[in-house]
Amino acid sequence: MRTDTPPTISRHDYQPFPYALPEVALQLELDAARTRVTTRMSFERAAGELVPLVLNGQDLSLESVAIDGVPLGPDAYELHDEMLVLHPQARRFTVEIVSTCCPEANSTLMGLYVSGRHLFTQCEAEGFRRITWFPDRPDVMARYRVTLQADTAHYPLLLSNGNLLSQRDLGDGRHEAVWEDPHPKPSYLFAVVAGDFACREERITTRSGREVLLQVYSDHGAENRTEWAMDCLIRAIRWDEARYDLELDLDRFMIVAARDFNMGAMENKGLNVFNSAYVLADPATATDATYRAIEAVIGHEYFHNWTGNRVTCRDWFQLSLKEGLTVFRDQEFSADMLAHGLQGAAAASARAVKRIDDVSALRIAQFPEDAGPMAHPIRPESYQEIANFYTATIYEKGAEVIRMQQTLLGREGFREGLDEYFRRHDGQAVTCDDFIAAMESAYIRRNPGRDLQVFRHWYSQAGTPRVTVRMQHDPQAQTCTISLSQSNPPAGIELLQNPPATKPPLHIPVAIGLLSPTGAVVLPQGAQPHPLGAPGTLLLELTEAEQSWTFHGVAERPVLSLLRDFSAPVIIDYARPDTELALLARHDSDPFARWEAGQELARGLVLGRVQAQLNTAADLLCDTWAALAQDTALSPAYLARVLTLPAQRELIELTTPMEPQAVVQVHRALTQELGGRLQDHWVRLYGAMADDPATPYSPDPDSAGRRALRALALTYLLAGGHPQAAQWAMQHYEAATNMSERMGALNALATWGPEEVRTAAYQHFYDMWQDDPLVIDRWFSVQAASPFTGVGEVQALMLHPAFSLRNPNRARSVIFQFCMNNPGNAHSAAGYAFWADQVLALDALNPEIAARLARAFDNWARYTPALREPAREALQRIVQHPTLSRNVAEIVNKSLS
Ligand code: ARG
Ligand code: ZN
Repeated sequence: MRTDTPPTISRHDYQPFPYALPEVALQLELDAARTRVTTRMSFERAAGELVPLVLNGQDLSLESVAIDGVPLGPDAYELHDEMLVLHPQARRFTVEIVSTCCPEANSTLMGLYVSGRHLFTQCEAEGFRRITWFPDRPDVMARYRVTLQADTAHYPLLLSNGNLLSQRDLGDGRHEAVWEDPHPKPSYLFAVVAGDFACREERITTRSGREVLLQVYSDHGAENRTEWAMDCLIRAIRWDEARYDLELDLDRFMIVAARDFNMGAMENKGLNVFNSAYVLADPATATDATYRAIEAVIGHEYFHNWTGNRVTCRDWFQLSLKEGLTVFRDQEFSADMLAHGLQGAAAASARAVKRIDDVSALRIAQFPEDAGPMAHPIRPESYQEIANFYTATIYEKGAEVIRMQQTLLGREGFREGLDEYFRRHDGQAVTCDDFIAAMESAYIRRNPGRDLQVFRHWYSQAGTPRVTVRMQHDPQAQTCTISLSQSNPPAGIELLQNPPATKPPLHIPVAIGLLSPTGAVVLPQGAQPHPLGAPGTLLLELTEAEQSWTFHGVAERPVLSLLRDFSAPVIIDYARPDTELALLARHDSDPFARWEAGQELARGLVLGRVQAQLNTAADLLCDTWAALAQDTALSPAYLARVLTLPAQRELIELTTPMEPQAVVQVHRALTQELGGRLQDHWVRLYGAMADDPATPYSPDPDSAGRRALRALALTYLLAGGHPQAAQWAMQHYEAATNMSERMGALNALATWGPEEVRTAAYQHFYDMWQDDPLVIDRWFSVQAASPFTGVGEVQALMLHPAFSLRNPNRARSVIFQFCMNNPGNAHSAAGYAFWADQVLALDALNPEIAARLARAFDNWARYTPALREPAREALQRIVQHPTLSRNVAEIVNKSLS
């Protein structure tokens, strides 16, 4: 066990930094083995009295410290493990520090590190302190001037934030570049890239008429795979101008692809660094989903330039201020791209596809987090290691909390609030309270006498609230009364509080609709439909523990369409007959709620079979799906979502105690049943959705939707045992003219294919793509998640020469895929032991990635008893390891408490 339990940092202990730091000059003598950094900082004490100057540093060697040019002896400062304390006497003074770090020994991928032949930095959240001694906190904003020197042949390109001021040859085989960023920024937005890259560039004119240079850098040889990234960047710039009137504020905007990267990407000012998986795409190597993911991440990082960089976070407890808001913005961007050129119901259904995917992701990743030991509010109260709080809650639930504000304010009101936020806070480091206060000013203008006081509790409560619905219909009076009640019992750390946390009610926007027994829209007398919703949408604002609404002029007992467009991140409890769900699945005017009704029908069937061991017949689900499969008004992309069962991970989370094995079995059996009983439909769709091989590949939503639906049909045909399915799958694989089709077939084979066909396809795929790391990641992933891959097989995959623990994408493609996406095999004593081994092995190299893996079985305490014990033993083994990082220590200690 680590002897030093990591200290807990609390939100309420925030103190402003006692110095201003207007200017920083950095000089980096870049070298993979030893980089020398000279840092000049001009400080100005804020208050009157003398106060020590505390600087952060990690894994650095200190060469010298001087104040106002006078070198300090070792007695004049205190050097701790991660802190350097100086005692300046003047009010204004300059500190000059020389230190070194070792990029090639840095396997954490935080700070300055080597990837391929290049050098990269990653500073968010606390990586800058691995580059130099510095007040490494987001509320210290400075203007940076950066001088880079390096070997010219090895590092011909030297990049940093802002504008390139000068370049010169130093004569000794080395050269220098000087960059200046005109915008004051926190250290986490600093970046340096050095190396030899190919560059794609474009010049565009921003809305106000400024010409800007856009560049996408990649490894040589990959430049023909950056066209889509550039296209996404330009569309993101245009979208932010049009929708929010926000313009690019730099003369140059750069994106660089890195092979080794801990996360998706990073919004460094003017110099975004990306995981190459979110930059590189061409039809032969990227799937439709990859194209969309690149669009989302490029949008996300670009949108941070305003929501994150121009207005940043005061402290890391406010992380969702920038992340929740920016995820919301990238979701809206993606939805608008899907709906481009469409009108009315077609546009709504295109946007719903994005909403469905986002809500599914929320249920798979965030709901379990909110129901486990790491549950935290979107604005956490405390942490031990901030890197552990880049969570689905901060990001995805954070985005839902922003979306609810748009629902409550309307699009225009939301825009007014956002404008006010920038008016008040441009150039500042602020809090979530500042954001909501700006939104509230717009809300009050539109809703005199009301405010967002109750809404604010979304920022301080963990847990997924449950909303229970009751409906009473009075045929005589023709009234319909809807009662909603909410509850959100203590979750995660709230459970450990003494006295227990009190959790006041939340302000929950519940969008509903009323349908007649034949599925027509019912609009009660005098009811005002919500402008953002599908026809007949009513918005109920639940702000108390329990409330009722009575509607008039409702002659027949209506069927309720609930939580339209997923208007709040809650769980709805409403007991109703399956026939109502089937009606909604066929007729709801809200495409999200319509999809949800079908999912609810399937969830009920699976959970009934798992928990009550009811062998409920799937007749109603089959009939409903058969009808939907023939509904030609539905787009292929939407239909593909409708005809997909809820994910195993989502279903496992809904069982009490959690029964992963039983869920996997029932899920597979039901897939086979649907495959067989709806065989004619799958055969028809499989034929109808075939691509015309003469048409060049395009990732547009319609083509992508057709490919997704065709691959789904193939999966069902294989599952259902159609005699020709294996042959079709192999043909599908071999005839594929793009990676999407190829992966569609390979995934189907990996999940359902006969062994010889499966292994032949794996072998062929490897032979074809062995030199392409991003494609080989797919090859590893598909095998690691296959139900035919047990612990022995995944260990064999790790012995493959192409496997490496040091590359996060590769570790994710094998270890994470197995532990998170192969529940039938991972949930076993051997699976948990494998997991513990890998957490420890990764922790020695990369604590941030190790801590993510350490969360794979967060909710072990709710497992069925036979799994609980081996899971606890595996966790105990991790906790008892003598050298755990702060990252992993925090996760496993919380998991066992
Ligand atoms: N701000 C980045 C993003 O949302 C995430 C960076 C976090 N990086 C990390 N190593 N924890 O796009
Ligand atoms: Zn972000």
